[in-house]
Amino acid sequence: MHPSHQSIPEKPHSLWVNINIATMAGNRAYGQIEDGALAVCGERIAWIGKRCHLPRDLKNNAFHVYDGNQGLMTPGFVDCHTHLVYAGNRAKEFELRLKGASYEDIARQGGGIRSTVRATRQADETSLLKQSAVRLMALMREGVTTVEIKSGYGLDLATELRMLCVVQKLGERYPLTVVPTFLGAHALPPEYEGKSDAYIDFICAEVLPEVAARSLASAVDAFCEGIGFTLDQTRRIFMAAKKLGLAIKLHAEQLSDMGGAALAAQFGALSADHLEYVSEAGVKAMAAGGTTAVLLPGAFYFLREKRVPPIECFRYYQVPMALATDCNPGSSPTVSLLLMLNMACTLFCLTPEEALAGVTRNGARALGLEDVIGTLERGKNADFAIWDVSEPAELAYHIGSNPLKQLVVKGRMIRERRRHAYYW
Ligand code: NIG
Ligand code: FE
Repeated sequence: MHPSHQSIPEKPHSLWVNINIATMAGNRAYGQIEDGALAVCGERIAWIGKRCHLPRDLKNNAFHVYDGNQGLMTPGFVDCHTHLVYAGNRAKEFELRLKGASYEDIARQGGGIRSTVRATRQADETSLLKQSAVRLMALMREGVTTVEIKSGYGLDLATELRMLCVVQKLGERYPLTVVPTFLGAHALPPEYEGKSDAYIDFICAEVLPEVAARSLASAVDAFCEGIGFTLDQTRRIFMAAKKLGLAIKLHAEQLSDMGGAALAAQFGALSADHLEYVSEAGVKAMAAGGTTAVLLPGAFYFLREKRVPPIECFRYYQVPMALATDCNPGSSPTVSLLLMLNMACTLFCLTPEEALAGVTRNGARALGLEDVIGTLERGKNADFAIWDVSEPAELAYHIGSNPLKQLVVKGRMIRERRRHAYYW
């Protein structure tokens, strides 16, 4: 249908003009619309197209007209893999690693994830909320409008529930969309030392049903790895998740090839994440299962890994690639999704367009939200950012600068540089 024939909203609408739009939809590069216009009605995009095709009624009856000053509009960013609710930090382990200790050595000696578990168990809800909100706001300042947040630093019933309540409160108190994931099988807690099967029993029989009953998670994740859980244990978690109707994700093939990605794909997982060591068979299984590859260059960089994920293989089998911060205190202490765009290009050789698709269209897919967010199309959520750049590749090119001018979530302006800010 020609854009001038899109039906016109009857309710009041706002209009954005004088912008170039990277819709990230369709076949053109970045789905670009030069000299575009976008109308928002309520929480949704009511019209999008070239300004010269804008219907006269829309132009004349807009409740508010925003001038984009020839900035670039993109979909709001989706950070589809974070662990941003936690207490403390692991700077001391960073020093140890620089002296030669490996991430796995530190984990085996009771540090690593377990050290954040100790800090998180001690933190009450207020303190956890306060520490995590700082990170959430930093993500928003760089254009994030949807964020996934995992539990997994509690590893007991009370603390896992407390973490997920904090995730829920972040979603209620801040204007972005927060998607919660249960990651009970992140590490073995000290009280289950030598009894990892018993811990999996506990997660499946006691924690997961409680999380589901309280609607505190939409997906279940696990860490399938030598220092995490075996393939069999991961399968048991997936079966329990399936029974409860929860979606599935997996930390797979980060440090070794355990066959986790293929298992996840057989369960119809939304995503398999990390994937430095995934085999061609694993990638093929992901293609067959419709599982998105979530790449985490921050963890690759910070752990000084040498083996890059098989990007060419993902391209060949057409496995969509998403990109996320993995924000966490041990392997990726970052709150910058813009930096991840740059790292994905420099370290993994993604094209800037693939990188941008990774934090928009494919990030949405990794959360099962591709019908609602991730591209700028009529009927989708009016979640978008306007950047002070002249071409989309600039978003991946700059290092450490932030060209965000405006951020809109569900039709509501939540950040507007130079005029006034509602949140900070
Ligand atoms: O995605 N690999 C497992 N989980 C996190 C790291 C967690 C931590 O070290 O605290 C990750 O890299
Ligand atoms: Fe992670």
